[in-house]
Amino acid sequence: MLVMALDPEVATANLTTVETIVKLVYLLAAVGFVMGLHLMRSPATARKGNLLSAAGMTLAVAMTVVLLLGTDGFDVTTWGWIAVGSGALVGSLAGVISALKVQMTDMPQLVSIFNAVGGGAAALVAVVDFVHRVWGPGGFEMAFTVPVGLDILIGTVTFSGSIIAAGKLQGIVSGAPITFFGSRLLLIASALGGIGGVVWLVVDPGMLPLIVVAIAAFAFGILMVLPIGGADMPVVVSLLNAFTGLAVAMAGFVVDNTILIVAGALVGASGSILTKLMADAMNRSIMSIMVGGYGTGDGGGAVAAPAGGGTVHVIGAEDVAIQLAYAQKVIIVPGYGLAAAQAQREAGELGSLLEKHGVTVYYAIHPVAGRMPGHMNVLLAEADVPYTQLKEMEEVNGEFDSCDVSVVIGANDVTNPAARRPGNAISGMPILDVDHSKSIVVIKRSLGHGYAGMDNELYTNPKTGMFLSDAKKGLSELLQVIGGYFE
Ligand code: TAP
Repeated sequence: MLVMALDPEVATANLTTVETIVKLVYLLAAVGFVMGLHLMRSPATARKGNLLSAAGMTLAVAMTVVLLLGTDGFDVTTWGWIAVGSGALVGSLAGVISALKVQMTDMPQLVSIFNAVGGGAAALVAVVDFVHRVWGPGGFEMAFTVPVGLDILIGTVTFSGSIIAAGKLQGIVSGAPITFFGSRLLLIASALGGIGGVVWLVVDPGMLPLIVVAIAAFAFGILMVLPIGGADMPVVVSLLNAFTGLAVAMAGFVVDNTILIVAGALVGASGSILTKLMADAMNRSIMSIMVGGYGTGDGGGAVAAPAGGGTVHVIGAEDVAIQLAYAQKVIIVPGYGLAAAQAQREAGELGSLLEKHGVTVYYAIHPVAGRMPGHMNVLLAEADVPYTQLKEMEEVNGEFDSCDVSVVIGANDVTNPAARRPGNAISGMPILDVDHSKSIVVIKRSLGHGYAGMDNELYTNPKTGMFLSDAKKGLSELLQVIGGYFE
């Protein structure tokens, strides 16, 4: 099929056949995306879903190359093709190496960088196509200029916003809300500038409106993410992920590529659903996060957090083991520290040891525990914890009242009762009601604060015992001691 066709008539006939085949394979790729997304609904099938979607994307990219080669008479010797080949090779290598090397705890930063690259690339596609027409054949019908404007707007917002989000997650940019005099006004001005620029680009296409859209969108992305506090980062990262999908779909309209539209729309739709779930989990509205103000502690009256102080009760492995040995119901609460310590196996062993000795064990999963959606589910699945023991926040919160011991392992913000009061960085965020248990054990290295920068008043609760240790080391010690009790 892919023979070199030097005769123009044969070449045209071959191209039509190639186009038909490519369209059919695109359809197959789209089916792969949708089925992959469906499989990602459950942790048990998520890996298969990921592989299926990746296979669909590989097919789609391969077919696009075949289509482009076809229009070039299958002449692979030109400089353009050598550049495409080397670019694809370098990009794929960079993607594979960074995905293989990244620590699980750094995954959100990588996702943010991928969002930035995706949004930026989509915007560049529109810029190149537009500039090509400005200096080339012209033709600025609305079906072209509208997606060009929206692509540059959304893609550039995603690019600059995701770079700031990655910087915050990595600790290069402060995780605390960053605002300055007039920052909200600037945010509103850049939003209006971006939207106005798109209208200008559609009404009077030219380079000047294009530059206005790009600059305003770039500023909006930065100004939107800077004031967002650490605890709200999950919402903003999934929002930017949805934006990437929308920008890619717009790029699909610009270059008239169906599979790009389908893939972008699916990412946009699934990202939007995830954003809604994350916003609901944090009890935030998406619009409020976009216009700033959340995580800044200015959201609800002026009730100050209680002054620090209170007595902290420090305990050791022996004390924890005694409590657990006499418990009938134990709830394990994993958080980011469990991931950082890679202590999932030990946490799983603790649960199964207790279960074996007749204790009812649940693992309480907060939707934003850790650093990425589903982080705790993934870790505990790695440790073969049965899915039936994993309980989502709404389900498990009713269980704490009858829980003998809650074991908090490296979780902080998601257990902080300060969230129930207005006037602080995590106000309004639903938490795991750990403080309703009869007794609480917290395993972490110090009394230090969590991701949102807030001290946790759970640590001075008279029912709480602080087992100050690295999660992996502390759990190993605990397993040894408790093993003795169950012999
Ligand atoms: P955090 O509030 O981040 O607290 C984690 C705690 O783990 C820290 O206080 C730290 O205390 C402890 N820790 C660190 N290394 C440890 C180790 N080796 N062994 C034992 N403990 C260790 O965790 P969380 O409760 O899971 O809350 C997650 C936070 O991240 C939320 O604010 C959430 O909004 C935010 N966030 C979530 C996501 C997603 S999508 N899940 C994305 C971005 C941000 P020590 O230093 O004292 O040990």
